[in-house]
Amino acid sequence: MSAVKRETFGSRSAVILTMAGSAIGLGNIWRFPYMVGEHGGGAFIVLYIIATLLISLPVFVAEATLGRRSRTSAYGAMARLAPGKPFWKSAGILAVIIPTVIASYYSVIGGWSLEYLFQSATAAFVRNDPERVSALFGSFISSPFRPVAMHLLFLAACAYIVGRGVKSGIERFSKITIPILFVLIVAIAVYSISLPGARAGVAYLVRPDFSQLTARSFAFAMGQSFYSLSLGMGAIITYGSYVSREENLLVSSAGTAVSDLLFAILAGFAIMPAVFAAGIEPGAGPGLVFQSIPYVFSVMGEHLPVISTIVSVVFFVAIIVAAMTSLISLLEVGVSYLVERHGVRRPRACMLLFLVCGGVGVLCSLSFGPLAGMKIAGLSLFDLLDWLSSNILLPVLAFLVVIFVGRVLKREDLCEELSYAHPGNARLFGVVYFLIKWVAPIAVALLFVTNFIL
Ligand code: PFF
Repeated sequence: MSAVKRETFGSRSAVILTMAGSAIGLGNIWRFPYMVGEHGGGAFIVLYIIATLLISLPVFVAEATLGRRSRTSAYGAMARLAPGKPFWKSAGILAVIIPTVIASYYSVIGGWSLEYLFQSATAAFVRNDPERVSALFGSFISSPFRPVAMHLLFLAACAYIVGRGVKSGIERFSKITIPILFVLIVAIAVYSISLPGARAGVAYLVRPDFSQLTARSFAFAMGQSFYSLSLGMGAIITYGSYVSREENLLVSSAGTAVSDLLFAILAGFAIMPAVFAAGIEPGAGPGLVFQSIPYVFSVMGEHLPVISTIVSVVFFVAIIVAAMTSLISLLEVGVSYLVERHGVRRPRACMLLFLVCGGVGVLCSLSFGPLAGMKIAGLSLFDLLDWLSSNILLPVLAFLVVIFVGRVLKREDLCEELSYAHPGNARLFGVVYFLIKWVAPIAVALLFVTNFIL
């Protein structure tokens, strides 16, 4: 491995804000609310909180510790800590391929958000009637040029920030945008709750109906929580490698998980009350943000066009910022690999990733239109990558990481890594270790089985 001096994040708040930047993304604003809608509202949120605290948080600690201990990219992390074991070297390859694949289609959705920002800013939702507004989505994503151009623009902006470096690019961007993001989502939630007819939406979120839950709901809650905390994709391993040895990893991991959880719940309150106020179905699925929400803006726009336009702009700015900080972390995995393993200069590594993810993303985008007939195992390329990465690759890598940290890494080494600068952590270590060694692998294995059987 070439000897490249590693940068480290500047402070505890920088660690939490950067990691939260990776965690808070489309998963929180786009995926979480529609999952809540499809799985019975508040009951799903309760399940989600339990899954995050008991399973995802320990896995997060495992990934971050693995990164910091190895001080290298996700590719080399396991190989460096278990030298001479080829199996762990191949696991590293997976840790670079998965995020690059995800980045490709994540950027396509980022591009959609960019388009919707333009549409909001030109008051397109307010000017058109609600039915037409929700039909807009299908015709937009299936067109051959505009979604492709938006995807490339979005990807280029993120690659540019990654190219500026860990501290002056990634950390700086997250430190500025994540606090703003929280302010924006609170403002939207307050607006949404204040709409006439919104109370039913609030009740839907706060009154859990456990009879709606099935075994599948648990798998969905866990899968969603993994996705939301950016686990199983090498991103947290990579960011962990930029955390200084003096930082308390237990505290910063918990800070990140709580911020992510809070943001997801706020996003639920930003979206559901408005959806109920406009009298539409909460279980609308993936179209919730791009069809139902513009519908809401259009309905509201009939009486309050200016406010509705402003809120819609704020809403899509929030989605774009959240998606950018997440895509940045996905790109950084491949970039750090190219820089450290192959000595490629950072800007050139970003260019390479832009070309690869750009190309795959273009195919994904076209799979809604001109390439719609091209099916693999009955799925379009976009659906295939989404399904493969979240149902197979993500749990596989997460499983390998917890096995590695819980069983290959020595217990004392792990304890030393977590409590070296913070001896108080040693008292908590037994619980954390038990969750990493036993609870997490069993839960991930169950998730995997459930995805296939149910
Ligand atoms: N956590 C991000 C979200 O919730 O949108 C998605 C993501 C980003 C997953 C980075 C994985 C990752 F490595």
